[in-house]
Amino acid sequence: MQLVDDVVAMKDDITEWRRTLHADPELLFDVHNTAAFVADKLKSFGCDEVVTGIGRTGVVGIIHGRPGSNGPAIGLRADMDALPINEITGAPWASRTPGKMHACGHDGHTAMLLGAARHLTETRNFSGTVAVIFQPAEEGGGGGREMVNDGMMDRFGITKVFGMHNLPGLPVGQFAIRKGPIMAATDIFDITVTGRGGHAAMPHQTIDPIVATSQIVTSLQSISSRNANPLESVVVSVTKFLGGSAYNVIPETVELAGTVRTLSPEMRDMTETRINEIASGIAAAHGCKAEVKYLRNYPVTFNHADETDFAADVAASVAGEQGIEREQPPTMGGEDFSFMLEARPGAFIFMGNGDTASLHHPAYDFNDDAIPVGVSYWVKLAEKALAA
Ligand code: NI
Repeated sequence: MQLVDDVVAMKDDITEWRRTLHADPELLFDVHNTAAFVADKLKSFGCDEVVTGIGRTGVVGIIHGRPGSNGPAIGLRADMDALPINEITGAPWASRTPGKMHACGHDGHTAMLLGAARHLTETRNFSGTVAVIFQPAEEGGGGGREMVNDGMMDRFGITKVFGMHNLPGLPVGQFAIRKGPIMAATDIFDITVTGRGGHAAMPHQTIDPIVATSQIVTSLQSISSRNANPLESVVVSVTKFLGGSAYNVIPETVELAGTVRTLSPEMRDMTETRINEIASGIAAAHGCKAEVKYLRNYPVTFNHADETDFAADVAASVAGEQGIEREQPPTMGGEDFSFMLEARPGAFIFMGNGDTASLHHPAYDFNDDAIPVGVSYWVKLAEKALAA
């Protein structure tokens, strides 16, 4: 490992910040304490500019390099929000708010980027500008989209963006990345099937939406097996099936909901079209009506080729060539850093969290031993990207 010495010396401070953030988890855009903590720290480090309220509750810190130098600005991004989960770690720094916890390690991401900001403001060993980006609402609210729509890229002249996420199961000190799609587009759908309710003993006098909807659920599974190119990935998961209220009543309506995960625009378009066709066609065959609402949520997290090579080389400069997997298979999870990668070229990398509980599990905790690794990656990335 080729860690940055000064970063190793900061590990205890950064760990304390991480645990402070962990104890006070906040959801979606409601990250007021976290954003205030971040802004205070950035000001105390001597950031040249600290701007709050971008994309509602996002924070951006601006750090200029060597005096008199000029060069482009790059963005380094962390996420700040937690999840609506009851923590069971029993750690001394565990959530003090029942029903909320940092189960995705965004506390670690925020603390690591703060550590990098401190080092970069103290040393300024680069030419140009680093924008440290702290976003709200990664877990479903589209905080990254809000910050982009708020004009963040143009306002700070950001030319490239980089993101990082911890990954349980990957050893501490290891990185993983790939060119192209690394995480899926995450769309959602709601289908309401309407028939005619009535007595369950006289089905001929009703139009049973439960039977029709059951066939819709089954047929939706044919999208990935029959419509998708077998060499491409499509997930259609029905996650809600709500209908009925009694043993002897056929209900009037049934509601379905679910999620769609794809890795290419073609598969995304195809899946949306087929869900509409299958739901309305099968409903009609049973004399029912289907109303389909399809919402395009996060796009594919698409790593740009040159920036991916660059990020992988930086990771190798920290962890050695054996510490970087350059052909990581994509996951069908989603990530709203995708909006920033749509706006600017860049790359998203995974960093090992070791043998911990999985992301979004109530026993998950960010691994503090990974802090010097992640912070060294950020520091080296900024200094190499903006080398004079
Ligand atoms: Ni996350």
